[in-house]
Amino acid sequence: MQVFDSMARYDHEQVVFCHDEVTGLRAIIAVHDTTLGPALGGCRMWPYANEADALNDVLRLSRGMTYKAAVAGLNLGGGKAVIIGDPKTQKNEMLFRAYGRYVQSLDGRYITAEDVGTSVQAMEWVRMETDHVTGIARSLGGSGDPSPVTAFGVFQAMKASLKYKTGSESLEGRTVAVQGVGHVGYHLVKHLREAGALCIVTDVDRDALKKVTRDFTGVEAVAPDAIYDAPADVFAPCALGAVVNDETIPRLKVGVICGATNNVLADEDRHAPMLAARDITFAPDYVVNSGGLINVANELEGYNPERALQHAANIYDITMNIFRVAAEQGITTLQAANHIAEQRIKALGQIKDRYVGRPPARLHR
Ligand SMILES: NC(=O)c1ccc[n+]([C@@H]2O[C@H](COP(=O)([O-])OP(=O)(O)OC[C@H]3O[C@@H](n4cnc5c(N)ncnc54)[C@H](O)[C@@H]3O)[C@@H](O)[C@H]2O)c1
Repeated sequence: MQVFDSMARYDHEQVVFCHDEVTGLRAIIAVHDTTLGPALGGCRMWPYANEADALNDVLRLSRGMTYKAAVAGLNLGGGKAVIIGDPKTQKNEMLFRAYGRYVQSLDGRYITAEDVGTSVQAMEWVRMETDHVTGIARSLGGSGDPSPVTAFGVFQAMKASLKYKTGSESLEGRTVAVQGVGHVGYHLVKHLREAGALCIVTDVDRDALKKVTRDFTGVEAVAPDAIYDAPADVFAPCALGAVVNDETIPRLKVGVICGATNNVLADEDRHAPMLAARDITFAPDYVVNSGGLINVANELEGYNPERALQHAANIYDITMNIFRVAAEQGITTLQAANHIAEQRIKALGQIKDRYVGRPPARLHR
């Protein structure tokens, strides 16, 4: 495992290996880029097969957070942490408090949050040892469940995508195929129905499907695999990653893909151009779902739900700008989003080079 070579590949600033014999903690914290501000990103707990897999994951995910924060207009950098272990059997107070002390030792260069395999409870343990944690329960003054703000952001990105594609952002009379009606998908269906769209929904969880068809009219349920064949204006993946792939792309009968799922393209380099060739407009996933990050970032300045929603409404303009840049430069929408993020980091990095005394730290525009 060549750690410095791996860090150099995507220009990571810092990687911290954390070991605690008493609790059995084995964690890696990766700080990718702090040009825009402190590195924020969740802590994932996973039984990685080996240390190299854990390192690769934390490096990849922390870099992704840099881009997500930059394109969302947040003054935050990208970071991530992984704890090597089984979340089903090894999640306990001592382990997360030991982890929290390592987060504290970075003195705010890295801010942690919940992710796959961790929980609100785990973050409460972390908070006993450090202030540099976000995504705390509403009852403790935190921002709580980010899903409603994420869904609102997806809805904004969808309106922008339709405006770009058809000239009208209206969802009235349109059909949207929603894959996964869990936390985000459910709230998305609510927005869509309020806006007059018809929804074709699916989920592998029968209860989730029952709830959404019971709570809303104008919602038709189909079998999980049938969602790829459903004729619709928009496909909104809100479940698992890599569902847009060699097998599903030829089946899609939609003009737009816009959903909350992270890493929805199985292979970005091949599948983004394949979608463009089929004239399917792809709203980049990490931009579409940035409402979740916007919500936890808001907590850092004292959570205000209205301000969080206001900021998430910017996702409309951000998405539209990505489409414009992609068209102007003849690149995919994913390349355009990356380009915009890189330009913002570069420009603000240069401004920050000038000495101005102590500027106020604001975490969002
Ligand atoms: N929750 C957030 O605020 C947030 C923020 C950013 C990104 N995301 C991403 O959005 C997606 C959805 O997040 P969530 O919080 O709603 O998760 P969730 O677990 O609450 O909901 C996902 C739903 O998808 C269903 N599902 C799983 N496999 C499926 C399949 N093959 N076909 C159909 N349905 C399937 C699950 O049963 C579940 O109901 C995830 O990829 C997540 O990473 C969520």
